[in-house]
Amino acid sequence: MEAGKFIEEYILKDGRKLIIRTPQLGDIDNYFLFINNLIDEDVPLLLDEKVSYTSELYWIYNKILNMFEGREIAICIEYNGKIVADAAITQSIGREKHVGSLGIAIAKEFRNMGLGYKLISMLLEYAKSSGFKIIKLTVYSNNGAGIHLYEKLGFKEAGRIPKVALFKKEGFVDVITMYKEL
Ligand SMILES: CC(C)(COP(=O)(O)OP(=O)(O)OC[C@H]1O[C@@H](n2cnc3c(N)ncnc32)[C@H](O)[C@@H]1OP(=O)(O)O)[C@@H](O)C(=O)NCCC(=O)NCCS
Repeated sequence: MEAGKFIEEYILKDGRKLIIRTPQLGDIDNYFLFINNLIDEDVPLLLDEKVSYTSELYWIYNKILNMFEGREIAICIEYNGKIVADAAITQSIGREKHVGSLGIAIAKEFRNMGLGYKLISMLLEYAKSSGFKIIKLTVYSNNGAGIHLYEKLGFKEAGRIPKVALFKKEGFVDVITMYKEL
């Protein structure tokens, strides 16, 4: 998958003009801000402490390399020069090469506008045409929006591990594994 490839322009109902494209190395500063804003907000993601610039640089290098070598399908959304959404499906290895793991995050000001649904639908289409057979993901049980969205897209719960992740507000919550056959 080519880095920095324009996919489409998308205009929200309120008139904000978004660019949907693939990520590129030059996005590092914006991704650094994006992830640390999500961590500050205490969203239901794994990370709960700010990431360093170096680890974000490593993360984006790895992402671009994976895209280049066909192991990752990645999309981001840019608004006014800033990254406001990121979504990707990463290929598993060995006997599970036909399986992909999905991850997604949308900046607060852009949630509940259908962007999650749109980005995941796009990724699932790419994944299907690339030969993936199963897409899996994990979601914390306190992530009502995420669970609703995944179920709406046809993901089913495979199981859960109770009380895996600790949140300031909710205390310990379960991690749920979901999957969808393509
Ligand atoms: C989960 C996430 C990606 C969803 O993205 P989004 O762009 O808001 O998704 P959409 O607008 O397409 O859909 C959200 C749906 O959840 C619903 N929703 C919102 N809050 C909800 C809640 N607390 N409980 C149940 N449903 C909820 C919305 O009404 C909408 O459903 P609808 O389209 O049927 O009305 C976004 O909330 C996010 O990035 N959160 C922070 C990071 C994160 O949790 N990532 C996923 C980790 S598994």
